Amino acid sequence: MINSHAYVSSPAPGNGRRQPRAWFRSDAPTVDLDGEWRFRLAARLADATDGFEAPDFDDAGWDLLDVPSCWQMHGYGAPAYTNVVYPFPIDPPRVPDANPTGEYRREFTLPDGWPAGRRVLRFEGVDSCFAVWLNGELLGDGKGSRLPTEFDVTGVLRPGRNVLALRVHQWSAASYLEDQDMWWLSGIFRTVRVLCRPDGALDDFFVHADYDHITGQGTLRVETDAPARLSVPALGLHDADPAGPHVIERVTPWTAEAPHLYDGELVAGGERVPVRIGFRRVVVEDGLLKVNGQRLLLRGVNRHEWDPDHGRTLSRETMLRDILLMKRHNINAVRTSHYPPSAEFLDLCDEYGLWVVDECDLETHGFHMVGWRDNPVDDPQWLDACLDRMARMVERDKNHASVIMWSLGNECGTGANLAAMSEWARTRDPDRPIHYEGDWNSTYVDVYSRMYASHAEVELIGQGTEEPTKDPEADAHRRGLPFILCEYAHAMGNGPGGLSEYQRLFEEYPRCQGGFVWEWIDHGVRTKTADGREFYGYGGDFGEVLHDGNFVADGLVFPDRTPSPGLIEFKKVIEPVRIEVDPDGRTVRVRNGYDFVDTGHLSFSWRALDGAEGELDVPILAPGESVTVDLPYTGTDWVTVSATLAKDEPWAPAGHEIAWGQAGTPVAVTPPAPAASATVDGDHIVVGPAVFERVTGTLSRIGDLDVEGPRLDLWRAPTDNDLRGWGEGSVMATAWREIGLHRLEHAVLAVEPGAEGLTVRTRVAPAGTDLGILATYTWWTAGGQLWLRLDTEPVGPWQVPLPRLGLRMSLPTTLEPDTVDTVTWFGLGPGEAYGDTTAAVRVGTYTHTVDELQTPYVYPQENGNRREVRWAEVAGLRITGAPHFDLTVRPWTSEDLAAATHPTDLVRRDRLYVNLDVAQNGIGTASCGPGVLPQHQLTAAPASLTLAFEPQ
Ligand code: GAL
Repeated sequence: MINSHAYVSSPAPGNGRRQPRAWFRSDAPTVDLDGEWRFRLAARLADATDGFEAPDFDDAGWDLLDVPSCWQMHGYGAPAYTNVVYPFPIDPPRVPDANPTGEYRREFTLPDGWPAGRRVLRFEGVDSCFAVWLNGELLGDGKGSRLPTEFDVTGVLRPGRNVLALRVHQWSAASYLEDQDMWWLSGIFRTVRVLCRPDGALDDFFVHADYDHITGQGTLRVETDAPARLSVPALGLHDADPAGPHVIERVTPWTAEAPHLYDGELVAGGERVPVRIGFRRVVVEDGLLKVNGQRLLLRGVNRHEWDPDHGRTLSRETMLRDILLMKRHNINAVRTSHYPPSAEFLDLCDEYGLWVVDECDLETHGFHMVGWRDNPVDDPQWLDACLDRMARMVERDKNHASVIMWSLGNECGTGANLAAMSEWARTRDPDRPIHYEGDWNSTYVDVYSRMYASHAEVELIGQGTEEPTKDPEADAHRRGLPFILCEYAHAMGNGPGGLSEYQRLFEEYPRCQGGFVWEWIDHGVRTKTADGREFYGYGGDFGEVLHDGNFVADGLVFPDRTPSPGLIEFKKVIEPVRIEVDPDGRTVRVRNGYDFVDTGHLSFSWRALDGAEGELDVPILAPGESVTVDLPYTGTDWVTVSATLAKDEPWAPAGHEIAWGQAGTPVAVTPPAPAASATVDGDHIVVGPAVFERVTGTLSRIGDLDVEGPRLDLWRAPTDNDLRGWGEGSVMATAWREIGLHRLEHAVLAVEPGAEGLTVRTRVAPAGTDLGILATYTWWTAGGQLWLRLDTEPVGPWQVPLPRLGLRMSLPTTLEPDTVDTVTWFGLGPGEAYGDTTAAVRVGTYTHTVDELQTPYVYPQENGNRREVRWAEVAGLRITGAPHFDLTVRPWTSEDLAAATHPTDLVRRDRLYVNLDVAQNGIGTASCGPGVLPQHQLTAAPASLTLAFEPQ
């Protein structure tokens, strides 16, 4: 039994398979085998069912499972998440005996009347290794989970009833090549079909559609593996020889910004194959990555295929949703991290317009744990497997205009097999540059690619003054290459911070051609608590022994594809049109930052907070052009200028906002002079509407409101970026906890009622250290308002930035049955913002429920901060800043938030917890990458905050 499974532990990529070829649809008949299959899961290979492949095997007692699907998402076994580490012993190419093995059976009927020709059984993706039988006959086996595998079934396929049987193994030799940072999931997770290949039909073709940006000429050449005719009516080609070359005097080129496709048709052997042709030329020239002669600026994301209910099985609707969301958020590029996506996704990229870096299904990162010993990419016994993967990707995807680079894989270290893959791809497809990040020598790639390089390093690279790489020859080659960040700005939890600073570098240095944020989506698995409340599971939630926790939840969209604040920020930072309103609101400067299109598809309008609004006449700008125009606003309020789509685009309706700029002059609030003295009344001190404790000087009431605090507070529930870091001393949350910022003690030094109000002097510090903060509260009243000035002064050698600096207080919730607490504020909004994530918020008056103010990060952490709040109304209290403050309002405390591991752990209390802050520390991206930039760090330094409180 075990011997017949020798293929499982063999590095060989497969047996009995057909040659890889282009993916296409045609009018030839097919049988779609998606739907319910009979299924049984054996916990070990040794428990596989003898004779299950026999056509008459009785599978009536087996379960039914949908194909395509990942079996762990349907209650068979469980999802398991590791980032780098292999969840099995590293003993290549062998895998453990406990190798969950899914047995699949499916009957189907071959319709009558198929034209003469070959029959092909095609799997778009089976994870991780399988053997397949048709009508009891072994067809072969295959590996390469996210790549297609075909078998010729001519002669095995029968008229009428057929029985297909597959044995799919969770682990195989190929698992060593598929150590991507994601859930380990198994099964037939993409479509299965039987295809008719009529006699004389094409099996494969390669469209070469070159564009000369100087002459506007297009040259079309289609290689076919059988005689065929080509028609592309819009190019005047009718029944032409595909080989051409057909030189067309003027064509409309394809770009991600204007994805023009010419629809055509190849005809051979009576079969019609629709083709969609995009003319473009991708080159690396003068040290730049250019398309159609133009340097690209990649505003990209890394996209894994993910669905919280279906794992890596995505419907077309879900793929389209990703594309629409990306286009609507100004994203122009996708790296298909770290495997070729479903082929349909690339069709959508061609159609809607995205630059694609298509990445091979290859990662051996876990070998890093053993010093890269026996790394398959540097071992000749794996050469075939590596080349096979590259060929299957390139052959499948070569006809997509959107694919502008081939990527060899991710995090495999270095090795000769990578060089061989590059060489093979270059020969097969000389028209696309090669990408790989893992070899910093960059000898066999066409772009210098890195992940998570700091801003400072990117700047050096931009200037061409980066550290040399080891080998002088390699160094000379690398210095001539364009630079991209294939991963940057780790979008885990709250953040990423520092996007604007990266964008500035991409816009300043031609060599720095942008990059791909890590990553598009949180891979949370929709799960329920014992009492039925939904949450998104992450590593460790499914009983895994080895796991990497919530590191799998690091996307710009939540698992259900709701945009996170990080995506809103990214959209603003990368907007392709820059709009700068001058501070007086009299003129506007507009710059076209698109690479290819003019601004003719945009309308410009302005709107002031006082309600005045109008259209703005902005001349059509060519790429790179700017103009300054007068703004016809005569008032003095904040004014926003927006660029919106002038008409419906396939990806967004007319009116969709692309870019905006805002300016205004803050109205200065001058705190009034004290109008009454503090009076002592027994155990209390009264200042205007407020009552304080005589001994402690703490506020207990404002009017009828029972108030706790406000008092100095420094702690925040650590963010993912606070909780992780590279290098010693870089983990902020550890440093904060070591000092004890989560357990501050407050000592009252003096309570001083007087003619001008009340002064309370305190020293706030954690136990066990002489570090502290002197906090002086000065209270006074005027005009029915209660005023407070908080002055803080650090004591001792503070070495780390503070998490927050401000006040914490609580108020009774106004919640009555069937009502919700709302907060109205005037300040930056509507979303959350921190010092280094502030690009996307604008001044306005906003009302949110308290629930809406919380950002439901998959792992609970500090969230929901509103910046530069001039005034806010919270639970019957109006709070005014002079000039402004940072605000969070929550139905739980920071401690509750820090203790929770899933949002369902957070239990609403009967008070609202309000933080009124001078500032918070920035966010950074230390969860994988650089921390908070110095200019966004909240260094301990004297600070003050002035606020007025007024019961409503
Ligand atoms: C990179 C890797 C990604 C992901 C990321 C962290 O090193 O290429 O797959 O693990 O780090 O989330």
